[in-house]
Amino acid sequence: MDLELVFKNNENWISEKLAKNPNFFKELSKGQNPELLFIGCSDSRVTSEELMGMGPGEVFVHRNIANMVISIDLNVMSVVNYAVNQLKVKDIVVCGHYGCGGVKAAMQSADLGILNPWLRNIRDVYRIHQNELNSIQDEENRYNRLVELNVQEQCVNLIKTAAVQKANRGRGLKVHGWVFDMRTGKLIDLKIDFDKYLSKIMEIYHLE
Ligand code: CO
Repeated sequence: MDLELVFKNNENWISEKLAKNPNFFKELSKGQNPELLFIGCSDSRVTSEELMGMGPGEVFVHRNIANMVISIDLNVMSVVNYAVNQLKVKDIVVCGHYGCGGVKAAMQSADLGILNPWLRNIRDVYRIHQNELNSIQDEENRYNRLVELNVQEQCVNLIKTAAVQKANRGRGLKVHGWVFDMRTGKLIDLKIDFDKYLSKIMEIYHLE
């Protein structure tokens, strides 16, 4: 890739923004007030703002391999806490995608070194839903279903946090699970029932 092109593209982008709104950058530099936290995969094909038709200032973003929300990952937990407690986002989305290399790697038995502990969290999702997944004969369908169940479990992991529980009680913060289908470009809402999950897991995970 010619990195010179990046700076040329940047100049074009500035011109386009200023043509639409001469105060665009003045307004942008005043601060951010995003209403949405987007947790997605690092995969280069899964953009965050672009596929939602959003722009600078509208989405707080965290991306990692296979869109994981792991309780001892200081990075994702810092993002969640800052977004919920300081930015006061109204919604959190975990967005997975079909064809996810991280999920695929977790379905195979290869030793991937430093990635092993990360991918083990996806293997744990497989174990939790082993009966359902093993009953799916077609490997592609099983893989797609694991992508969806992984999103669902990461939503549950969000609901386990004190920040999300308190913001849900206090101001109705919601957690959503979506999947991006890059074969069609479609964003699919898995319609995870936040309240159902919340009440189901609260007995164990409730934090004052
Ligand atoms: Co991925």
